Parts: sequence; C-alpha cells; structure tokens
Amino acid sequence: MKTFFLETHGCQMNEHDSERLAGLMEVAGYVRVAAPDEADVAILNTCAIRENADNKLYGHLGALKPIKERTGLKIAVGGCQAEKDREGVIARAPWVDVVFGTRNIDALPRLVQAVDDAGVPLVEFAEQFEVHPSALPARRGSPFHAWVAIQYGCNNGCTFCIVPAVRGPEVSRPLGEIVGEVQRLVDDGVTEISLLGQNVNSYGRDLTGRPIFSELLRAVNDVDGVRRIRYTSPHPKDFKKDTALAMAECEAVCEHLHFPVQSGSDEVLRRMKRAYSRSAYLDKVAMARDLIPDLALTTDIIVGFPGETDHEFEDTMSLVEDVRYDSAYMFQYSKRPGTDAATMDGQLPKHVVQERFDRLLETQTQISFERNRQLIGESVEVTIERPASKRDRSKATGRTRTNKLVHVAVDSAPGALVDATIADATAHYLIA
Ligand code: SAH
Ligand code: SF4
Ligand code: F3S
Repeated sequence: MKTFFLETHGCQMNEHDSERLAGLMEVAGYVRVAAPDEADVAILNTCAIRENADNKLYGHLGALKPIKERTGLKIAVGGCQAEKDREGVIARAPWVDVVFGTRNIDALPRLVQAVDDAGVPLVEFAEQFEVHPSALPARRGSPFHAWVAIQYGCNNGCTFCIVPAVRGPEVSRPLGEIVGEVQRLVDDGVTEISLLGQNVNSYGRDLTGRPIFSELLRAVNDVDGVRRIRYTSPHPKDFKKDTALAMAECEAVCEHLHFPVQSGSDEVLRRMKRAYSRSAYLDKVAMARDLIPDLALTTDIIVGFPGETDHEFEDTMSLVEDVRYDSAYMFQYSKRPGTDAATMDGQLPKHVVQERFDRLLETQTQISFERNRQLIGESVEVTIERPASKRDRSKATGRTRTNKLVHVAVDSAPGALVDATIADATAHYLIA
C-alpha cells in the first residue's frame, strides 16, 4: 500500500486546498499516515505571509532529508511559499522531488508518479486555473463543517501583502456552482458552511450578470438544512449595507464579522493602500452593529508598518479601545520581498515593534476578557466540535454562533447543537 504524509501551514484557504490534495492522493491509491517516516510521499502545503514561514519550511525540509536517505521518501512542496520561491526551493533544498503551485494542485499525483522516470526534480506552476480546486475530490476534515471557496486570488494591492503575488488575480466561482456544492455538502450531512475568499465583498465582479456577495449569502441561506454560515474575509473598503442587511435577515448567517482594520492611523492606512480611512471604517462598524443585534467583531492588526510613528501607533491603540473587539489577530509587520512596503523608508527596529505589540496585546486581551465576562449567565447555542480532552468524555468543546470557543459540560457528539448557559469566561474561551 502506498502512503502519504501531508502537513499544512497558513490560512483556511490552504487547509481547504489540503483537503483536495488529500482527496487526490486517495483517488490515486495512497493512504494517509501521521508521520513522514512511514510515508512514501511527504507533501508540505506552505504559507508565505510572514518571514518565519520561510525559516520554518527550510528547517522542515532539512529534517526530512535524513528520512529520505533512509527510506527513499519523496518530498513535494506546494502552496504559497512554493509560488514565491519556485525553482529557489530546489536551489536551497536540492533533495526535494516536486514543487507545485496554488493554481495546479490537480497536478500533484501525476508529478509524484512522473518524478521517478524523470530522474530530476519536477517544478510545475500554472498562471491560471485549468481546474478549480473545488472540482477536485476532497477528504474533508469534519463531518458537519465544510469550507467552500467562493473566490480565488486577490486584486488588491495592500503594500505589505504577498498574497496577490502568490495566489494570482481574483477569480470568482459562479453562484450556481457554489450553491450546488453547498447542496451536495448538506446532502452529505454538513450543517455549517464557511465561505472563503481574500476579499469576499468583491465577489462576482468578474462574472457575467455580476452577482454580488449579499445575493450569494441569501442563496446559501436558502439551502434547506444549512444551520450556520460564516465567511472570511471581507475588505472594509467593499463592505456595504447590503451585506450587513443580509447578515441580519438570514437566519443561518452567524452574528460574527471579521473586519480586518490593520491600523487605526489614516496615514498608515494610506501607506498600506487599504483604501479606507479610520472614520469610514468606524462608520461601517457602527452600521453593522446597528443592524445586527449581538454582533461579535474581530479583526487583524499589523504593528510596526514601515514609518509607523509613536503617534500613529497610538491611533491604533485608541481605535482598539473605541471599537472593543471581541478578539483580534495581532501581527508584527514582516517584510515580504517583492511587496511595495519592503522597500519603504522607516523599517523599524525589532525592539520598538515588540514593545508596541506587547502593549496592544495586553490591552486587547483585557478587552476580550471583559467582553467575554459580560456573557456570564446568558444562554447561547453551541455546536459541539470534539470532546474537551481524550481522557474526559464528560466535557466537550464547541463554538457559539459568534465564533467563540466554549467548553461545555455535555457528552454530545460532534455536530450536535446544544443550548448552554455561560458560567465563566477567560479572554480566550467560555465555560458553560
Ligand atoms: N485577505 C485578507 C487577509 C489575508 S492575510 C484581508 O485582506 O483581510 C491575513 C492577515 O495577515 C492580514 O489581515 C494581515 O493582518 C496579516 N499580514 C499580511 N501580510 C503581513 C505582513 N507582511 N506582516 C505582518 N502581517 C501581515
Ligand atoms: Fe492581502 Fe490586501 Fe488582498 Fe487581503 S486584500 S489578501 S491583505 S492584498
Ligand atoms: Fe494563506 Fe499564507 Fe497563502 S495566509 S493565502 S497560505 S500566504
């Protein structure tokens, strides 16, 4: 029996691509194993969003080399860092057998098969999709939850971001095709859908008839049997009232908006080319909170963008204190070769960025704590995801509609919806 090992880094889009990679390998007759020592093929699906991803990949490839020498393991590298480095992967790690991109994941089984005869590493990329990943077989990670890609790539030019370079221009999937996939997933037992794209609010601009994202939300909501719908990420510049209204009016669409702000300073936002101002962002937050009762709000923030002054950083601090996010992903700016920000003046020393980051983290953690504590005593609907631990089956871990993690004193099976009363809360999870 032929076997494969698969490891995934990065965002949900990569997780989703990996489900396709696993599906493709299974159709080609391979069985998945948990360690590279036991595998005929090791596949790394990589991320390039920040610099530590680079170091991780080459460290990992170094660790696979002795295994390869011992067992004859084949090594395949795909994903965003493969796109970024291309032939450079082989230059730095000549023991790698296959390098493939984000737009030709369907090629993997063929490349793995062909590399023996080729006698040299095979490096293959596509500038356009020949087959959308969504049309490929999938091995889903969860019986009740599924990711559904609605759009690939990104047309924005945020100056810090490598995604457009490694994922290519925006391509939307036709609305009917997405709804068809959701219907098939529901027939297969799925009740929760997460719609994925880099800028979901520009969905459909490249399609005939120009469907818009709020129509898509309503159409997915109309599929019988869908209990929860989430989506990520909206870009604040394209988020409008029609989307907030669809969220408010569609029963299955969850009361959670992930709304990446990146910075609270108009000057920094301009240098980032985010195309919105602080006040325009705050107006949209107010509009969404006004229309959607009990809305949970989360965000992404970058600290230490080139040239960020103390004053500009304080604008981010005050924004966080004004908005009071439920939680935030906070990142230290990482220079990505080839992006506009990489060559900007004013790249900041690590200790300055670290100090700002620590302050922001402390403030946001306190706000998350206070917001979660406000929920004590309330009744919430929880989807059970897994037992809380391997030993203790009397508690389960799940999620609220607002995407908060909850440990609940029930032994219900994954996928079950339970009503729970919040008894206690930390900054990072609830207890019910
Ligand atoms: N398309 C999504 C973001 C995808 S990347 C959006 O626009 O919302 C996820 C997050 O990584 C970004 O929101 C940003 O906060 C962070 N990020 C991207 N590039 C980065 C960099 N060079 N340094 C630090 N953080 C970065
Ligand atoms: Fe990157 Fe900006 Fe596109 Fe998001 S919208 S993927 S941050 S370029
Ligand atoms: Fe995602 Fe990382 Fe690529 S965040 S799109 S896997 S660069």
